[in-house]
Amino acid sequence: MTQPTILIVVGTRPEAIKMAPVIHRLRREAHLRTVVCATAQHRQMLDQVFANFEIKADIDLDLMRADQNLTSLTANVLTHVGRVLAEVKPACVLVHGDTTTAMASSLAAFYANVDIGHVEAGLRTGDLLQPWPEEFNRRAVDLVSTHYFAPTRQAQHNLLAEGISGESILVTGNTVIDALLMTLDHTRRHGGVAAALHARYPFLQGDSRVVLVTGHRRENHEYGLASLCRALKRIAADTSVQVVYPVHPNPNVQRIAASVLSGVDNVHLIAPLDYPEFVWLMRRSAIILTDSGGIQEEAPSLGKPVLVLRDVTERPEALEAGTVTLVGTDEHRIYDECTRLLKDEAYYRDCSTRRNPFGDGRASERIASFLRARYAPEHHSASLGLPALS
Ligand code: UD1
Ligand code: UDP
Repeated sequence: MTQPTILIVVGTRPEAIKMAPVIHRLRREAHLRTVVCATAQHRQMLDQVFANFEIKADIDLDLMRADQNLTSLTANVLTHVGRVLAEVKPACVLVHGDTTTAMASSLAAFYANVDIGHVEAGLRTGDLLQPWPEEFNRRAVDLVSTHYFAPTRQAQHNLLAEGISGESILVTGNTVIDALLMTLDHTRRHGGVAAALHARYPFLQGDSRVVLVTGHRRENHEYGLASLCRALKRIAADTSVQVVYPVHPNPNVQRIAASVLSGVDNVHLIAPLDYPEFVWLMRRSAIILTDSGGIQEEAPSLGKPVLVLRDVTERPEALEAGTVTLVGTDEHRIYDECTRLLKDEAYYRDCSTRRNPFGDGRASERIASFLRARYAPEHHSASLGLPALS
């Protein structure tokens, strides 16, 4: 008898990081067949993560185009994933989060009448334009999903408030914590990351304070990123600080970062790092400035103060944990908040508490167990279930 197939579709760096533990866990399930489809909405950064987690896609659609626009990307994902669904005939498609890959793949699955499992379901800012287009994407995925893997109680609450049935929601924790713990453990056992980074980036040697930066959101391309870069230039006037910015390969991001920051000695515009290297660098840093979603979830576990370059967040749990502050993209606000953290030791200590509101590292196990119970019930017993996330 053929086994029920779970098709996992991923396209970008954060989806790959957060689905890597789910892919590994599902591939250990004896009674489910797992097929991984990479849309390759991101090319280099997806390959980087797959190499880090030793994952090979079964199907690679190779869709990324330089400076792609949302319309053509959406149309391509919809068409190509539609074909994959017709070939693979999965019992269920798993998508992650709020990317174009997730939104268009879930729409293709909806058209094909296939069950959809949404990993990281239920995040909301309540503002369709922030982040853009991700708030639309995540709501659209939730509109057509069958199973909702909510990372937190807050996400579950958001879904219930929209009329989603409680029966279809499982609170799992965020799989990014699974990925982070796997990576910390791997680095502890195998080492080598610090030495490699010290050799490549000598400014990381010694004990200078590192301000780590990431910024790439589409709604920030025109003004927000330029304003951030001007703030970084002012922060770097303090030469005891090293500003390190692994720049997203989007040409619109590269252009702005290079035009404002090239030639500043203690500002380092570097290539995107492998995930284990980036995790090491987060731990090495004094402060993180970011508009990334995933980093807001990782930072509370690492106890690093984070200034979030957005006006609203879909991750209020990070704010409540006390390590994360929303600063938006105003140059003066970013400079003032960062300078306060650099100068006021008591304030810095207050913002560096280590708390993890995003899970216990067993989210992927809960997802696998749920899928086994649903799609291979004859091989599931209650004793294989996991305790619910408190
Ligand atoms: C996408 C997601 C965003 C996510 C981000 C993570 C959407 C609408 N946006 O935004 O939610 O936070 O990924 O990074 O799905 N590029 C490369 N190499 C790569 C990756 C990107 O050269 O490995 C360049 C290409 O020119 C590409 C451009 O970046 O066209 C934009 O990529 P795209 O995925 O469309 O948008 P992101 O801003 O990366
Ligand atoms: N990250 C990485 N290398 C880098 C920068 C970020 O591995 O050079 C990781 C980071 O730890 C987090 C994820 O990439 O897990 C965030 O991805 P991104 O900022 O691209 O997307 P977002 O989280 O905003 O959707």
